[in-house]
Amino acid sequence: MRLPTTASSLILLVSAGTPRAAAAGPPLTDHRNCGCYLTNGTESRYFSHHYFFDFRSQSQYAGVPTAIASADLSGSAPRTSKYFSNSEFANTWIVGNWDNSARQRKDATVRMHMSPNNIYIEANNDKGRKPETWLTLRTQRMENFQTAAELETMYFNKFVSVRMMARTIGAPGAISALFTYKHSNVLAEVQESDFEVRTRDPDNIVHYTNQPGVTTEGETDPLATTNATLPDGLKWTDWAVHRLDWTPERSTWFVNGRQVAQNAYQTPRDPSKVILNLWSDGGKWSGNMSVTDAAYLQIQWFEMVFNTTDVNFKPSSHAANDPLVCEAVCSIDETPNQGQPVMLWNNAAVRVVERRSFTGWIPVLVLGMFAWR
Ligand SMILES: *[C@@H]1O[C@H](CO)[C@@H](O)[C@H](O)[C@H]1NC(C)=O
Ligand SMILES: *[C@@H]1O[C@H](CO)[C@@H](O)[C@H](O)[C@H]1NC(C)=O
Ligand SMILES: *[C@@H]1O[C@H](CO)[C@@H](O)[C@H](O)[C@H]1NC(C)=O
Ligand SMILES: *[C@@H]1O[C@H](CO)[C@@H](O)[C@H](O)[C@H]1NC(C)=O
Repeated sequence: MRLPTTASSLILLVSAGTPRAAAAGPPLTDHRNCGCYLTNGTESRYFSHHYFFDFRSQSQYAGVPTAIASADLSGSAPRTSKYFSNSEFANTWIVGNWDNSARQRKDATVRMHMSPNNIYIEANNDKGRKPETWLTLRTQRMENFQTAAELETMYFNKFVSVRMMARTIGAPGAISALFTYKHSNVLAEVQESDFEVRTRDPDNIVHYTNQPGVTTEGETDPLATTNATLPDGLKWTDWAVHRLDWTPERSTWFVNGRQVAQNAYQTPRDPSKVILNLWSDGGKWSGNMSVTDAAYLQIQWFEMVFNTTDVNFKPSSHAANDPLVCEAVCSIDETPNQGQPVMLWNNAAVRVVERRSFTGWIPVLVLGMFAWR
């Protein structure tokens, strides 16, 4: 766009008098001011809703519960702190409590039980270091079974851009995963877009798959999976932002803002849950864990923008105002304050644009009447 000279100098004068003139990049705003969110990257899309869960300063809820030794008591275990019953969390997430007797993978050799007891806020014990806390999902091999952890969104989404600042640590034999999931009893009809870490892999290899990655005959489908090397010398034991964009045409995966894989094959089509889990069942994919060994998926923050067609969906405090008429376009990418959106532009009243100046990028408020085009 080009601004008429007179208008732009006028605007510079106007904006010089506002505190925003000193800020770099588009201005921070409140999610209530956002009509929709525009993501960046090769599959840049608009989304109507936003979730952000920040686990970094939750010291009052921190505590590591001992794993429950009985499979039968695992599913009914209480949530490990009040954090998980606060309305924002409890109205967004289903805490897994199922066992694999009913949902067993064909090659599983170990009974596995999801337990709310394996999901907790953990203090960072490296004193003086940030963050104070994170969310931990744990899986541990007990005497007679594998105890594991899962969080699943309550509502179905149709297209998402989901991110988490996370790492996976611990013993070989576990799978940690962030994925979209549409269940089917027929393997070939499962729709699922996955980011997975296998804790028995080399520490720089991760897996990106549009499932099913294996046929009913057990043959792997090479088109379904990208086995990627993490960029910039990263290991999956390092903290990094892992991102999955599920758009109508394809799935795209990023690490720390860099695209590492993309797949248009078997892209999920129907409304899906977003799931985080950490598990092991003694099958070919996860492998076995040795008794008493454990692994952990640790998450500092979780964020997603998404659309939904779910009739049960109740916009929470993290939902955008008016999904159908989007005049105020926000970004969760360009923000200096993770979780708080910035306003890219607002057609309704004021447009916010960035202009190169001698002092670097400064936002310039352009009155609607001077708008470009
Ligand atoms: C999300 O919904 C909005 C409003 O209906 C639409 O404009 C946008 O294209 C949708 N995004 C995707 C990725 O389908
Ligand atoms: C990816 O890695 C897995 C596990 O090592 C292997 O079984 C699979 O064949 C690989 N797939 C591709 C497409 O390289
Ligand atoms: C999105 O924007 C952020 C902030 O400018 C940047 O760090 C990141 O690399 C961008 N991601 C992509 C995929 O372009
Ligand atoms: C896991 O251990 C069981 C026996 O406890 C064995 O039958 C199975 O083959 C092992 N799985 C793998 C992938 O090694």
